[in-house]
Amino acid sequence: MSTIMADASGVLKLSPVIPVVTIEDPADAVPLARALLAGGIGVIELTLRTPTALTSMRLIADEVPDIVVGAGTILTPGQADGAVAAGAQFLVSPGATPALLTAMNSLEVPVLPGVATVGEVLMVLDHGLTAMKFFPAGPAGGPAYLAAISALIPHVTFCPTGGISLATAHDYLRLVNVSCVGGSWLTPADAVVAKDWTRVEELAAGAAALG
Ligand code: 3PG
Repeated sequence: MSTIMADASGVLKLSPVIPVVTIEDPADAVPLARALLAGGIGVIELTLRTPTALTSMRLIADEVPDIVVGAGTILTPGQADGAVAAGAQFLVSPGATPALLTAMNSLEVPVLPGVATVGEVLMVLDHGLTAMKFFPAGPAGGPAYLAAISALIPHVTFCPTGGISLATAHDYLRLVNVSCVGGSWLTPADAVVAKDWTRVEELAAGAAALG
């Protein structure tokens, strides 16, 4: 796949919010994905922060085909390979190095690399990618930072993530260089542990209404 085809601009158009999801127990994977879908959210960034994440990835990819599931927290080329083998349909990293970008771009899925500075944006552009995760959005400068750089690099589209809530999402979504935000607020750990899928569906519906 060429680097241009690996661009994740299409992924950013799937939903106003990409839920950033961490699952400990793979038994929660399918009901959680179905709850998001029932609430109107058709995409998941499933983080690779638990030892069972790839098992959950495979379950969602196989059993909830209507949701687009990608892998988040990709730190190494090996994790990117493993995620795609487990069914990941896109890859998200919290930051980027030339080696990681080259490795992710060699796979057959869109790539959403994390950036927090203009220098990192330019490095990712060198790899042919124009869609980027702005992370961690709050500490890295928030909406004011993205507004300030939009005139310099108007061809870059961001998915800000990190410290965003239903209440603050609009501060980002109204920016011309933002097409969605990411956040973990749709799947709070206590709701997942309690298997409170009704609450997840309600949070998803609230996020979907931002679109
Ligand atoms: C991520 O991996 O993108 C972040 O953990 C999500 O940030 P949040 O928990 O502040 O939404």
